[in-house]
Amino acid sequence: MSDKVRGPLANRYTDLVGIRHPVVQEGMGPFGTTRLAAAVSNAGGLGTVSVPGTAGDLHAAAAELRRSIEECATRTSAPFAVNIPVGHDRNGGIATFARIYLEAVFAARRADAGMASRLRVLTTSAGFPAGLTARIHDEGMIHQHKVGATQHAVKAVEAGVDVVIAAGSEMGGHAPASGMHTFVLVPNVAAAVDVPVVLTGGVRDGRGLAAALCLGADAVALGTRFAATTDNTEWHPAYRDALVAAKEGDDLLTDGVFGPCRMLRNPAAEKMRTATVSPAEKIAAMRRAQIEGDTDNGLVLMGQVASGISDVVTVAEFLPRMVDEAAAILTSLQPTEERKR
Ligand SMILES: Cc1cc2nc3c(=O)[nH]c(=O)nc-3n(C[C@H](O)[C@H](O)[C@H](O)COP(=O)(O)O)c2cc1C
Repeated sequence: MSDKVRGPLANRYTDLVGIRHPVVQEGMGPFGTTRLAAAVSNAGGLGTVSVPGTAGDLHAAAAELRRSIEECATRTSAPFAVNIPVGHDRNGGIATFARIYLEAVFAARRADAGMASRLRVLTTSAGFPAGLTARIHDEGMIHQHKVGATQHAVKAVEAGVDVVIAAGSEMGGHAPASGMHTFVLVPNVAAAVDVPVVLTGGVRDGRGLAAALCLGADAVALGTRFAATTDNTEWHPAYRDALVAAKEGDDLLTDGVFGPCRMLRNPAAEKMRTATVSPAEKIAAMRRAQIEGDTDNGLVLMGQVASGISDVVTVAEFLPRMVDEAAAILTSLQPTEERKR
């Protein structure tokens, strides 16, 4: 990649993926992030298209995912990713819905070589992607996998994964059962593996990016901050308002579709703690918040970082500003001749 394309914090991760800045907008299924992903990729980061959910007619959902991928490709000429939570089946393999989604991604790429050159990264999460890496490589993609524990990072790298996303418990959405905080997890993971590491959970500005790089990460992956942007036009505006209004302690961790899930503490979330709610009902409640804007009776997935978000920003302005802020912090931390004396 030419220096013109490399940003001030370019590194082995940005070079591998072919992006300008080490900033990822990570998947936020079952919510549509197609236009948001394109905006992030256009701003020099890596945008991610999300899956529509895991309940209902999976082939219809896979067709929706393919349309999202195709739409994203029309909106950006930069690299982008797709996130697929892989879950588990009864035999310890990946869930059926994940196989159907993966085939939709591969089919979309095979049908359009131009798009395939930009849809470079397949991110998996919420389960171990047993046996998948070789297939993803055969399809010409980079395999990025999200983990919440160091032993899972090591296992993923042994299986051939190219990039590990180290997810801290403060993150929005499905959070690792290990309960590890990014501040402890990321240095552990960075010491244990020799592939690029992306920190996810709790980042909202250049300070978080600089801190992540200091902890040994190569990049950061944000969810909640990107959800509260003007480019997130696929969600009801009330969702963004709820994120901006959230204060410390307004989140809770309860059982989601794939294990613990962090969300806004509201009547719908409180109900999940006491009543038995099926995965299909949970996904419907997530969509109720996202599409209808019912932030009381719908599930508002969000990270603890919402407590520090007080405005709705524009990706094109926010992302380069965040990178410049991080670069300035890192420069200011370098020992000057005077400080060395
Ligand atoms: C609304 C929402 C939906 C999410 N859905 C997914 C998902 O489908 N797959 C996944 O791997 N992570 C999902 N996550 C987690 C994000 O990809 C990301 O790792 C997380 O938001 C980072 O923490 P932050 O919210 O503090 O930035 C979701 C997060 C949010 C807030």
